[in-house]
Amino acid sequence: MKTSYDVLIIGTGIAGLSTALALPKSLSVLIVSKDYAWECNTFYAQGGVAVANNAADVPLHVKDTLEAGAGHCNPASVDVLCSEGPIAIQRLIDMGFQFDKDTSGNLLYTKEAAHSTNRILHAGGDATGRYIHLFLMQQLPFPILYNTQVTDLLIDEGECYGARVFHNDKIFNLYAKKVIIASGGVGSLYEYHTNARTISADMQGICLRHGIVLTDMEMMQFHPTAFVLGNSVRKQLLSESLRGEGAQVVDEDGKRFVFEYDPRGELAPRDVVSRAIFKHKQKTGKEVYLDLSTFEPEHFKQRFPSIYFNMTTIGYDVPKQRIPISPAFHYSMGGIKTDLHGNVLTVKDLYAVGECAHTGVHGANRLASNSLLEGLVFSARVANEIKQTIVNPKKQHLFSETEEVLIMENDKILKNELRHLMWFYAGIVRETHTLEKAQKRVNEMLDMSIGKLLRLRLLVSLEIITSALNRKESLGAHYLQQGMDICES
Ligand code: SIN
Repeated sequence: MKTSYDVLIIGTGIAGLSTALALPKSLSVLIVSKDYAWECNTFYAQGGVAVANNAADVPLHVKDTLEAGAGHCNPASVDVLCSEGPIAIQRLIDMGFQFDKDTSGNLLYTKEAAHSTNRILHAGGDATGRYIHLFLMQQLPFPILYNTQVTDLLIDEGECYGARVFHNDKIFNLYAKKVIIASGGVGSLYEYHTNARTISADMQGICLRHGIVLTDMEMMQFHPTAFVLGNSVRKQLLSESLRGEGAQVVDEDGKRFVFEYDPRGELAPRDVVSRAIFKHKQKTGKEVYLDLSTFEPEHFKQRFPSIYFNMTTIGYDVPKQRIPISPAFHYSMGGIKTDLHGNVLTVKDLYAVGECAHTGVHGANRLASNSLLEGLVFSARVANEIKQTIVNPKKQHLFSETEEVLIMENDKILKNELRHLMWFYAGIVRETHTLEKAQKRVNEMLDMSIGKLLRLRLLVSLEIITSALNRKESLGAHYLQQGMDICES
């Protein structure tokens, strides 16, 4: 098998695939996927892609993004996202992608929480991510190496030369002139999450071991409305656009209690709605539901076919029957620090893009549906940067193929303990003393005899906990509470 390429892309979500598609076909490009290509967060994205619906909406999209980000965004990055967003969407449409349209052929825009206008494009009703993913895969001119776990980056003296991988029971090195991390966030660190099962923070952990800076790791976003019952690790998302189009959050007495926490009610930013649900459950002990009864049944089935299918398969008669909900971990605003062209600042020829990257675009709380747009906009920038800086030939640098033991016998038990710990102590509502308790336990686990993959998870968890401890005031998704004991139920 060929082991030397111009460009190596780690991850097959919107960020990785769009970067690949924007590179010249003359380059040799390899994309590695940990599992099937569709086991990525893009595939499960429901609501849509936020984009300014005309030129006058660009400054409003900027304003909404900055406000949701609680004053913690990098304004330059937000400007890039909102002003280059329409160009990125037009590029996708020109390639042949079909967003949902009305009967006259006009694009349909819906609304989601904290957006001041209808600016969310969608496809297949509530299957936007799946449709975009399939479309990008169909266009791809480069090979994908499936079932490939990246175990390390090949970095020496501030320069990246490739990655070490585990594939087909073998460890070997893949060399490349340019390496792009597009591996998504950290979902599997949490007990309840909406992410693909492959999203487990490995690349963030590898970066930490190489001294690469992760920024804003305390900023973890929890989606307010997930169906968390059932055995699967990934929890069923109930899209923001349901609330945008009239679904209500109620308790078992039918009370719309979110208004007690914010005058915008269900349409407040998702950190606010998540906390309202979490606190209401803790305070009253009552179950919380998403009430869909404002929808006309046939329209619901047409507009939200995936949610309709998933919930009726589980046994819920939607939209008539309300669905029990809980917030679940959804998205990491924190990530590998990059500039606005995806350069990882301290390592030459290494890039990060999409959820794994931190450009500061989301601040302390991501505005709904800005993440698919981020993947499209910043991938074009990374591809451009690569075209301009790739050198031929790059000096050869060979690395050893020795690797640590990846998995040990007790790792699974510890991994589940970690997920529980992160959910209760580094979750929606945090307290200093429980964060300290979590920090102590994670450090104990790091001292145990464990496999490398668990070690990477623990390192990223420790980074989240430590960043949360270092931020002494609540901000956006990072919410510190004094004097309430977080109960583990
Ligand atoms: C959703 O459909 O609610 C998810 C949208 C997002 O995460 O931006």
